Amino acid sequence: MNLTGGWHWHWRAWRSQERWAPAAAQIETWLLAQTMPRDQLVLIGASAGWMLPTAWLIQFKEVHAWDIDPWAAPLFRWRHGRALRQHGTLLQLHTGDGLGALTRCTQSLPNAFFWFDNVLGQLRFTADDVQSVERQLGQLKQKMRSVAWGSVHDRMSGRCSPSGALPPPQQGLAPAAMDSPQTQAWLHRMGAISPCLDHLTEQVLVEGTPVQHTAWDFKPGYAHWLEMGWCPKTL
Ligand SMILES: C[S@@+](CC[C@H](N)C(=O)[O-])C[C@H]1O[C@@H](n2cnc3c(N)ncnc32)[C@H](O)[C@@H]1O
Repeated sequence: MNLTGGWHWHWRAWRSQERWAPAAAQIETWLLAQTMPRDQLVLIGASAGWMLPTAWLIQFKEVHAWDIDPWAAPLFRWRHGRALRQHGTLLQLHTGDGLGALTRCTQSLPNAFFWFDNVLGQLRFTADDVQSVERQLGQLKQKMRSVAWGSVHDRMSGRCSPSGALPPPQQGLAPAAMDSPQTQAWLHRMGAISPCLDHLTEQVLVEGTPVQHTAWDFKPGYAHWLEMGWCPKTL
């Protein structure tokens, strides 16, 4: 069973488009402003690209999108296919384990930009042993050294004060440690109510990577703290 995607994800995303629009706009503004290579793009956990800006996707010559969810490919094509076709961007949709295919993909597409699209923070839901997930997430940066790559992922999620408007995006550097005054101030501005769910992604990005923090109004009274950043090739 797919706990992080599937029809329930599509149903929620479709219904929540208006609620999610501010967070999606913050992701779009950030992605468009970045200088990552824009030749080939490999998306891991693309789903239908509910939170992915078409304006960014069409800047690539090729898009290779992976998701384990069989609904993802037709829905991605429905949402983004036409614009990609019009701009001459080749679209290849893969139904399968994009994380499992990483070694193969980084070898076959060494100049591509790899983007983990809100998938890494979900891994804790698919494993019994959260410590091994945290270790695996912390080691990903070693595996990705030979390519340019980045990720948008949940850092924390949980209930938040229903009255407060969510804060505008905040810039910082990875890793944003949970006990740092900046992180605590950010959670306070989000109106986060303890306890929050830790998505174990604190160590995903290389130390010193510029990041954006975005507050995502996921559902009434419940918000996610998204972190996004990218790292150039280092090998
Ligand atoms: C929270 S959803 C994000 C969806 C997408 N980024 C969007 O904006 O609509 C996480 C997605 O990751 C996918 N996923 C989970 N594990 C995966 C894996 N090993 N390989 C590829 N996709 C995976 C799920 O099927 C799901 O569609």
